[in-house]
Amino acid sequence: MPRKPTIRGEDDANARPADAVEERPRHPIVDASESIEDEIITVTLRPTRFDRYVGQKDVVENLKISIEAAKRRGEPIDHILLHGPPGLGKTTLANIIARDMEATFRQASGPTLERPGDLVGILTNLERGDVLFIDEVHRLSRVVEEFLYPAMEDFAIDFMVDKGAYAKTIKINLKHFTLIGATTRPGMLTAPLRERFGIVHRLEYYGVDDLRAIVQHSASVLGVHIDEAGAKEIAARARGTPRIANRLLRRVRDFAEVRSAGKIDREVAEAALELERIDLLGLDPLDRAFLRVLVEQYSGGPVGIAALAASLNEDEGTLVDVVEPFLIQIGFVARTAAGRRVTPKARAYLGKPSVDEHPRLL
Ligand SMILES: Nc1ncnc2c1ncn2[C@@H]1O[C@H](COP(=O)(O)OP(=O)(O)OP(=O)(O)O)[C@@H](O)[C@H]1O
Ligand SMILES: [Mg+2]
Repeated sequence: MPRKPTIRGEDDANARPADAVEERPRHPIVDASESIEDEIITVTLRPTRFDRYVGQKDVVENLKISIEAAKRRGEPIDHILLHGPPGLGKTTLANIIARDMEATFRQASGPTLERPGDLVGILTNLERGDVLFIDEVHRLSRVVEEFLYPAMEDFAIDFMVDKGAYAKTIKINLKHFTLIGATTRPGMLTAPLRERFGIVHRLEYYGVDDLRAIVQHSASVLGVHIDEAGAKEIAARARGTPRIANRLLRRVRDFAEVRSAGKIDREVAEAALELERIDLLGLDPLDRAFLRVLVEQYSGGPVGIAALAASLNEDEGTLVDVVEPFLIQIGFVARTAAGRRVTPKARAYLGKPSVDEHPRLL
């Protein structure tokens, strides 16, 4: 699981190898996982309708068709699995789907559903057409997963009541609900669970234009003055991720309030992000440390993720969920059967005396 930004801070920096410590992010604002501050702001900035949901055109188009077809048949929509890196809009999309279906949205999270008993109450309270959203669905325990199979397939559960000699199984019929699962690790889902989702979509990193639109919209909601070039600068450094774009906007806003009477243009955005040590590609100190360790300690790879995590003294989940996918996306890291390998493109980037010489990639 990606660690929350609050614990990816200074406190455990002392435990890291000396060469990596210096690059430790003090304010890990490009960590795509959600902080408390994000959670609060999310409520304000999260689009609630398809027409406000920027980008992901293919996914949105397909979902709209699935929804329309279900509506015409007068049936709830099929179970949906949404996967992709953190902060790309899975939870947002699940909310929009429920709203579009005029369905009640109920939310649970994989790790909090430890035993089948934790699910019984939730499932039996669902009305026909209700959406049950399970976040981090890859982290469901095995027993809970197996308990879900018949619920998803036959809308019935077998529930064990009492213990020992008095134990008996009772069958409970459920209303026809829709399960929406979200995960950053589709590979960790068991095949039977995965197969029970009739609709599966992968969210992709966003392009700069889409992120710019998101930044501009968020700025107007937050009452921030930003021009187009300023929004573009933030968008270009947001690692293809709306959550990061919104977070960078807030940091730049702070900077602008102190330095430029609250107005954000390209220079202000640039200066603020330099101060946060976010480079032109949106890479933060941890991304750069990842590349440096790969090159300097492991001769460019291939190396396993566990070894990299140990060298960086970083949580393996954070590397797998957050750091690596983006470095792979921009062609800096390749994942081979033998492990992670740095690409010539990344070597060229590291070799540049200044990041300014490097062309923008997204
Ligand atoms: N397509 C979009 N258009 C506009 N804003 C978006 C879009 N997608 C995401 N956002 C913004 O980014 C934030 C993060 O999105 P969301 O919480 O849905 O990500 P997630 O994929 O569920 O992440 P995680 O894997 O960490 O749960 C939202 O609060 C929203 O403000
Ligand atoms: Mg989410």
